Amino acid sequence: MSAPFLEVIDVFKSYFLNGKRIDVLRGVSVQIQQGELVSLIGASGSGKSTFLHVAGTLDAPAAGQMKFKGQSVFDMNDAQVAEFRNTKIGFVFQSHFLLPEFTAAENVAMPALVHREDRKAVLVRARELLERVGLGHRADHRPGELSGGESQRVALARALIMKPDLLLADEPTGNLDPSTGEGIHNLLREVNKDLGITAIVVTHNEVLAKSLPRRLRLKDGQVVDADTSGA
Ligand SMILES: Nc1ncnc2c1ncn2[C@@H]1O[C@H](COP(=O)(O)OP(=O)(O)O)[C@@H](O)[C@H]1O
Ligand SMILES: [Mg+2]
Repeated sequence: MSAPFLEVIDVFKSYFLNGKRIDVLRGVSVQIQQGELVSLIGASGSGKSTFLHVAGTLDAPAAGQMKFKGQSVFDMNDAQVAEFRNTKIGFVFQSHFLLPEFTAAENVAMPALVHREDRKAVLVRARELLERVGLGHRADHRPGELSGGESQRVALARALIMKPDLLLADEPTGNLDPSTGEGIHNLLREVNKDLGITAIVVTHNEVLAKSLPRRLRLKDGQVVDADTSGA
């Protein structure tokens, strides 16, 4: 049998604030299979962002392991982890973090340009991705000329430019009105289905969470399957 796509094993993470320890992740274990589309819900402050940062290798856990297709991620050296993150994982955050002085196409292209890929080819791919998210007509606009929903679509296209295997989204519609958010949710579903990208979406939106094939919940420092655990 082949190894699971993503395996998080007994992960612990604490923060220290004013001399006090906050134990956020307390032995999180979860497996995600290739092609899954999973929501992660939980109360504010329950550790959803912390979990996503650890799963995305933006932050190291105090203890525990993470395996990506059987390969142990935290055994890699810093350069290997950075390469892994840049090429295998796409991130979308609540804020779009677009660079104001660049066009939408240039913003989408940025991760690949930083990765020293051919500029012309990358910009062609960036435009294709903008088409994919319904923003072909905004490719030459700067972020200041885009709405919140459009900016988030650009951020999603940017997350896809490196052709990641895993998409991690942290409340991507948290700053949007419900109907605009709905459009982003539909796009996430399409990206999962059409491009075959495995995705974990942190959300406060119970309607979205319920509409995705699998729902995880962060509670008491652990991740549980919300639909089978009754959590
Ligand atoms: N850098 C940090 N330093 C100290 N405490 C933090 C830090 N980041 C998060 N926390 C705390 O850890 C807990 C979990 O935070 P977070 O993962 O952001 O939760 P969520 O995303 O579910 O709202 C919260 O109590 C938060 O205040
Ligand atoms: Mg959060």
